[in-house]
Amino acid sequence: MFSQIFKFFVIIHFLHAPLLSSPRTEIFLKENWLFQRGQNNGAEQVGFDDSEWEPVTIPHDWAIKGPFDREIDIQDVRITQNLEQEASEKTGRTGALPHIGQGWYRKTFDLPDLKDDQKVLILFEGAMSEPQVYLNEKKVGEWNYGYNYFYFDITDAILRDEPNLLAVHLTNHPQSSRWYPGAGLYRNVRLIVKDKESIDQWGQFVTTPQITDDWAKVNVKTRFSGEGLSLVTTIFDMENNIVAKHEAEPPFGNEFDQNILIDQPKLWSPETPYLYKAVTKLLKNGVLKDEITTTFGVRTIEYNPETGFSLNGQVRKFKGVCLHHDLGPLGAAINKTALRRQMRIMKEMGCDSIRSAHNMPSIEQLELADEMGIMFLAESFDEWAKPKVPNGYNRYFETDAEKDIINLVHATRNHPSIVMWSSGNEVPDQHGSDGVKRAKWLQEIFHREDPTRPVTVGMDQVEAVMENGFGAIMDVPGLNYRVHLYEEAYERFPQGFLLGSETASTVSSRGIYKFPAEKLKHVTHPDNQCSSYDLEYCNWSNLPDDDFVLQDDKDWVIGEFVWTGFDYLGEPTPYQGIWPARSSYFGICDLAGLPKDRYYLYRSRWNTESPTLHMLPHWNWEGREGETTPVFVYTSYDSAELFVNGKSMGVQKKHGATPQNRYRLMWTDVTYEPGTIKVLAYDENGDPVAEKETHTAGEPYQIILEADRTELIANGEDLSFITVSVVDKNGIPCPTATNRLHFEVSGAGVYRAACNGDATSLEMFHEPTMKLFSGKLVVIVQSTNESGEIKLSVSGNGLKAESIQLVSTSETVI
Ligand code: GAL
Repeated sequence: MFSQIFKFFVIIHFLHAPLLSSPRTEIFLKENWLFQRGQNNGAEQVGFDDSEWEPVTIPHDWAIKGPFDREIDIQDVRITQNLEQEASEKTGRTGALPHIGQGWYRKTFDLPDLKDDQKVLILFEGAMSEPQVYLNEKKVGEWNYGYNYFYFDITDAILRDEPNLLAVHLTNHPQSSRWYPGAGLYRNVRLIVKDKESIDQWGQFVTTPQITDDWAKVNVKTRFSGEGLSLVTTIFDMENNIVAKHEAEPPFGNEFDQNILIDQPKLWSPETPYLYKAVTKLLKNGVLKDEITTTFGVRTIEYNPETGFSLNGQVRKFKGVCLHHDLGPLGAAINKTALRRQMRIMKEMGCDSIRSAHNMPSIEQLELADEMGIMFLAESFDEWAKPKVPNGYNRYFETDAEKDIINLVHATRNHPSIVMWSSGNEVPDQHGSDGVKRAKWLQEIFHREDPTRPVTVGMDQVEAVMENGFGAIMDVPGLNYRVHLYEEAYERFPQGFLLGSETASTVSSRGIYKFPAEKLKHVTHPDNQCSSYDLEYCNWSNLPDDDFVLQDDKDWVIGEFVWTGFDYLGEPTPYQGIWPARSSYFGICDLAGLPKDRYYLYRSRWNTESPTLHMLPHWNWEGREGETTPVFVYTSYDSAELFVNGKSMGVQKKHGATPQNRYRLMWTDVTYEPGTIKVLAYDENGDPVAEKETHTAGEPYQIILEADRTELIANGEDLSFITVSVVDKNGIPCPTATNRLHFEVSGAGVYRAACNGDATSLEMFHEPTMKLFSGKLVVIVQSTNESGEIKLSVSGNGLKAESIQLVSTSETVI
């Protein structure tokens, strides 16, 4: 929302002496920061010597360059939510990257034009963690929770005649997280300069309380500071036509309350993400004092005991994924292009919703969800008062929970994509009456701040919450796993529906298959990988097919959020105590964003626009000749025939004998012989409609590059993701290749990072070399501020090298 608000005004990306345009100026503090790790006593002081500090740009993650180290943040814990009976040493739980410790950022800026009737806010969209903010040696504020958005009024500390020194101190404690949290100023920081008489920060709330086919009532509540002011709101459609203009009645106290009619409204949904814009002007005696733009959508949400969830009056089930905030090889440093790619990959799978596990989503992600059409379950906490890790949120819960929820709701409530809040994930407070009280308290804060959306908690202690009333008070009871308890919970809870707030936690490594292909709970293998036959899961979790049964057979299940859409840094279950393993195996896509086989299992159900036909495993099994090598097909078609070197292995049809038989086509007794396997899918009349082939590849011969985008914006942060693979002499992809490759970028771009999706790899992402994993990796190229051509060249010993040309053009600033 922030980038949409104020977009008619000057947007300045770095600053020496900006022109303060009336009525407000938004100044991104991106460039010319200095960073240093360590305590650095006195770093907030003007004369402090920072000449040796590292120049950085924001967003920045100080730990992502590693190196990986098993000794970092070793946690000797018993993870009760994983049903562990005793404590054991956990390596890699927080990513084995050096995020722990203290860090300082310093930056100077000038504001010579600041007028007496103006004020200055500094806004952080997140800072990891415990930021202490100093301006000109004066402490101007602090915020504990690293994931939240916060701002301070710094007017009194600003200097006009000399440079201002901003200094931010951050601390990450050991044992404070269950995943990689990132480190530093990993989200945007900005100054907002505006009139003292102006609209309050996050002071506008736009809702659409009544919608019919012919009209919508748009309610706009606007809080402000000042006296004798009037307010006008104009609503624009997506083509920039004015659809309504409304002058507010005099305010009650410091809030204007407008009801505005839109004729023939176009509704927001994942399929039709239509957005309107409200431009609000605050005036005094006809003079403009302030102006903001809020993007909003017209849509209804309803959660009903009879029908479950509906959007715009249509019943639907969430086809959702949980996502942690890190962007794999980019670490936690926010990047909108990387987020857009993630969301595009998820949408192409048919996914229509995301749960921000287990904290506030970035503003950029919500903007994209609005634009691209993805519903959002915005979560807040992984801990309340009772700890999961000793230095987690439990230390601030009593003092901070209310203000953290207020900021979450105020900063994000105008995003139509958000359809539900979550006040917690698997909090140990599910046990005991204090926990029930906390659940009620938090839910009431959400209701008070936003009466339009319900609240859930991801509950894993299902027996306890059925017993003590915790589950009964939630607006939306969310179950994490525990498929065997869905029926009983539905019976015992009063709501009449259940959400699979977290499902599956199936583990797999892209392109790795283990034999025999069998259903296995919490198994480990000597290579620290998991099988992509998608039959391995955890003590507490289950296979995707078990969730599908409930989703398909029970009207009262309102959808699921799969753990997880992408692999993330940290939590390398089932290898939490085994080195090397530093990122997760849960993802539908790997850490590089490359789809694993499971992607197509979900796609075959969720994508109703285009058919799915996907076959596994690969067919390069040197040494397995004559051995049983099952072939699975994930498809939206009901039946298919498999051929090995032209010989039919018979027709398989989906049937209900087991959940796997219902959702997968499986030929379990295929004998491996090199050559070609082919699957031929049949429609309901038995006519062949689609086919796919996999060939045994020869030796790696040539490098192949495929860019997701070839035209970049020359803004120093746009990205192209280039998938690198190798093929043999006949152009057949080599699925087991592990060749070392080297990357070189020239022209108007820089090499940013590479990732191969191997959770055991200790190679650093920012080094311009990496080994292929299962025949693939992804290289990320970043634009500079210069426009021009960019060339990426990829080479490897004994391989035919390849290069690709990209182009970057200057950004159009409105
Ligand atoms: C859940 C938890 C997630 C993640 C997942 C792994 O219990 O909510 O954060 O740990 O298990 O299966």
